[in-house]
Amino acid sequence: MLLNKSVYQLASLLTFVVGAQAQEAAAPSNSDVVKLTSENFESFIKEHPLVLTEFFAPWCGHCKNLAPHYVEAASILKDKDITLAQIDCTEEQDLCMGQGIGGYPSLKIFKDHDLDNALEYDGGRTTESIVAYMIKQSLPAVQEVESKEKFEELIKEAEQPVVVFNGDASLNETFSKAANKLFNEFSFVSYPESKSVLAVYLPNEDEPIVFKGEQKSLEDDVDALEAWVKVEGLPYFGEVNGETFASYVESGLPLAYFFYNNDEEKEEYLAFFTKLGKEYRGKLNFAGLDAGKFGKHAENLNMKEQFPLFAVHNMSSNLKYGLSQLADEEFEKLTEPTKLNTKDITKLVDDILAGKAEAIVKSEEIPDTQESAVIKIVGKNHDDIINDSKKDVLVKYYAPWCGHCRRLAPIYEELANVIASDDKASKSVVIGDIDATENDVPGVPLEGYPTVFLYPAGKNAEPVLFDQPRTLESLLAFIQKHGGSKLNTEKILEKYEAEKKAADEEKGDGENEHDEL
Ligand SMILES: *[C@@H]1O[C@H](CO)[C@@H](O)[C@H](O)[C@H]1NC(C)=O
Ligand SMILES: *[C@@H]1O[C@H](CO)[C@@H](O)[C@H](O)[C@H]1NC(C)=O
Ligand SMILES: *[C@@H]1O[C@H](CO)[C@@H](O)[C@H](O)[C@H]1NC(C)=O
Repeated sequence: MLLNKSVYQLASLLTFVVGAQAQEAAAPSNSDVVKLTSENFESFIKEHPLVLTEFFAPWCGHCKNLAPHYVEAASILKDKDITLAQIDCTEEQDLCMGQGIGGYPSLKIFKDHDLDNALEYDGGRTTESIVAYMIKQSLPAVQEVESKEKFEELIKEAEQPVVVFNGDASLNETFSKAANKLFNEFSFVSYPESKSVLAVYLPNEDEPIVFKGEQKSLEDDVDALEAWVKVEGLPYFGEVNGETFASYVESGLPLAYFFYNNDEEKEEYLAFFTKLGKEYRGKLNFAGLDAGKFGKHAENLNMKEQFPLFAVHNMSSNLKYGLSQLADEEFEKLTEPTKLNTKDITKLVDDILAGKAEAIVKSEEIPDTQESAVIKIVGKNHDDIINDSKKDVLVKYYAPWCGHCRRLAPIYEELANVIASDDKASKSVVIGDIDATENDVPGVPLEGYPTVFLYPAGKNAEPVLFDQPRTLESLLAFIQKHGGSKLNTEKILEKYEAEKKAADEEKGDGENEHDEL
């Protein structure tokens, strides 16, 4: 899945919350972490049934943070026939390249001596979460439970949602496959006495959530079963943290955040949010976020760091919504935290679902005057500008820090000058740019900077990505080919160059005259 920027930012915030300490990334040689090299890598995997491997670089900060947890987990797990290993990618470049390592640390799991199908480790990075994750890896994905007594005990003690099926042979294979993929977040149980085909028991909830569709619709359809589990297996009101975050993203639903200051405050709103979670099941997820640890994430949601706060992020559209917040001066004057208005929350949620809520768009101010032929676009007017059905609108999405953007800038400027030099072209084409780090452009699929899209006149809703070499000629040819205004850009360029040459010559004459004096 392609993660949008705000989702990605939270993911890294959650993953790396462990405090940084100055230590080596490489485990000490007297630890239980095994050092692997190209010499012993294959033979080691062939001899050990379950190996977690960390591909690292000695200078990498996150690798250093991970090190003490990794060492401790290795010593806990060694008695369970689970091995933790390290590969130093600055020494073992071929091995790391062969494994497709793109960043540090990269954690992979080699199971059942299979060198070719390593699994990505996507658990947490503390000792406890590494140990829990790897132990689960070592157990069968589906537990078979025969007696009622055992079953009830298992449900009572479960710390994560338990997905139960009745063992029906026609569903068995699909269930096992789903379990193999999702076992980190859910427990999977086969229980012949189960009254329903498929159900999920949430921790601290008495009644299971029962699958109400046709059993036939799940048979042979792992994706359908997975999708059901991912939505129904989430708590009504959960907690976003390093362990749970992926399941919120994977549910594909918008996420409503309650940022709280402390546990008492969370407790205060628990019943309210749990009720909302039940009511809006399958439409929107509700979860708490500890503002003390992850408060910075408010910024990614276009909110100020004023807690408690309530905000909703539609991760598919990257649109963000929130309860209105105080002016900074007013917030500073507060002597105790504000209370959230629960009626406003319900109304906001209803409006979002009805498509009536207004998203909070991060934007610079609309400039009063334009400084060059390139029109400066901002978040507030982006949609109006690209949606002008009479014009071909070319937009460059850039970041101030990006080198490729800087190289494109003078070419883009000249492009705008060429267009401006022609009467017809200047009326039918807009050459614009927008700083995408200061302005939200929900719905524009940006995968890097710069990205250039053309919104063709009359077909503005079907933007065309510019994917040619970034030259003046290819930009002009692109506008001619895909634009709705059917300009002859070659002619326009010829005329522009001729005029420019004439102007230069005139200027040149002037200079000569000056020289002669
Ligand atoms: C169900 O599937 C699992 C894994 O594929 C297999 O081990 C088990 O024997 C199957 N059980 C039945 C009743 O078919
Ligand atoms: C979230 O965004 C997606 C994609 O734009 C849209 O289809 C969906 O209706 C939105 N959901 C809500 C609740 O607004
Ligand atoms: C673009 O214009 C069309 C037609 O005028 C309108 O239906 C649509 O909502 C507009 N889209 C945006 C993003 O403004």
